[in-house]
Amino acid sequence: MAEQRVSIHGQWTNRTVFILAATGSAVGLGNIWKFPYITGENGGGTFVLVYLMCIALIGIPIMIAEIMLGRRGKQSPINTMATLAKGEGRNPAWVWLGWMGVVAGFLILSYYSVIAGWAMSYIFRTGGGMFLGVTADGANSIFAELVTDPERLLAWHTIFMVMTMLVVGRGVKQGLEKAVTFLMPFLFGLLILIVIYAMTTGYFTEGLEFLFSPGAITGKAILIAMGHAFFTLSLGMGAIMVYGSYLSDEYSIVQASIIVALADTVVALLAGMAIFPIVFANDLQPGAGPGLIFQTLPIAFGHMQGGTLVGVVFFTLLLFAAWTSAISLIEPAVAYLVENRGVNRIYAATWVGLLTWFAGLGTIFSFNIWKDNTISIPFVFENFTFFDTLDYLTANVMLPLGGLFIALFAGWIMRQESTREELYTYPAIYKTWRFLTRYIAPVAVIVVFLKAVSLI
Ligand code: PFF
Repeated sequence: MAEQRVSIHGQWTNRTVFILAATGSAVGLGNIWKFPYITGENGGGTFVLVYLMCIALIGIPIMIAEIMLGRRGKQSPINTMATLAKGEGRNPAWVWLGWMGVVAGFLILSYYSVIAGWAMSYIFRTGGGMFLGVTADGANSIFAELVTDPERLLAWHTIFMVMTMLVVGRGVKQGLEKAVTFLMPFLFGLLILIVIYAMTTGYFTEGLEFLFSPGAITGKAILIAMGHAFFTLSLGMGAIMVYGSYLSDEYSIVQASIIVALADTVVALLAGMAIFPIVFANDLQPGAGPGLIFQTLPIAFGHMQGGTLVGVVFFTLLLFAAWTSAISLIEPAVAYLVENRGVNRIYAATWVGLLTWFAGLGTIFSFNIWKDNTISIPFVFENFTFFDTLDYLTANVMLPLGGLFIALFAGWIMRQESTREELYTYPAIYKTWRFLTRYIAPVAVIVVFLKAVSLI
């Protein structure tokens, strides 16, 4: 048997660890913070349905493709794309796909860290008993007080960036492996507990109806649902690719991808089932925006038995979920610097971290001193703050575009023998994957793009 190549950055101990790490990357603020508020803003039911279809028909095939590219290239996404394009005798320009991923990861982390900071500050607010018996108005003003204070946001953002750099500097395997093994199941359990509380509000059916009963949907909302499928599965920017590069050759990529996508989807749906009944029970607006979970969950914690403890544990777990995702957002950049500049991980992580920290200031100010400095791009978006723009450009443009090219590369550029060899699954499964990757996913992404700007 030919000797296995191994990434210079190391390899996951076993398949379960890979699945946990990939789930750690996928499950994060996207599931618990973003999914509920964008569902609320986009009217519920149909939006959720489109999102689920995107996960199944676009997300899973592209996740398989992305892990496969990573494992075959065994380097940072930039070098992986260069090596694979060369290996297939194709244009070396494919390397830009890796670069776009690095830029997207950096931009996402710059705002992700600020929101993770909100979660961190809520650990202390809940722990200090601030929400005991709180009303909806009270929870609103506590949230407003936080986001209108740039200094506080900056402090939490700084702490979160340092935490992320510490883990990335040490290497993804150490620490991370252990953390995810234990935290993911715990987060799951706690969400179920909050869903049970939501059942006692008397508005559980309203919540479910909002989440699952179909209604009208706009082209823009379809784009947001698709963009979120990429965001929540960490696809289109090389995060999952770089994790794939640390995966040993003998494990099945298809099976792992399905498990990760399922776990991710269940967490998002549970978050929705926890939040919307509380929204309706307290006469809150589902379309309240990015503050939604911070304005609703404290009401639950303030009124349930042992709510202070449950709340503290919940926000701590949310912080960990964000942490394990943040790490994967800059791993591609750090791996690249180590490979090409010969620097060590700590040095690379520090520089990327500093740059990201700086970019995060834009998001911090979006909620206070730059609140009214908005921009509009005709046919695309109107009156967006710096944060809104970053979020839109990354989740709804860069990630789907990255995913589209990953699908094209895996489906059309790579030889069939190469992908078959790498995936070695049942013929029917392989054929389905190849069909989805060659036709369905690329066409769907293009159609959704065109529809969002009203060109079709
Ligand atoms: N999937 C993460 C979440 O849902 O919170 C966010 C994310 C991580 C997006 C890594 C993209 C990425 F590459």
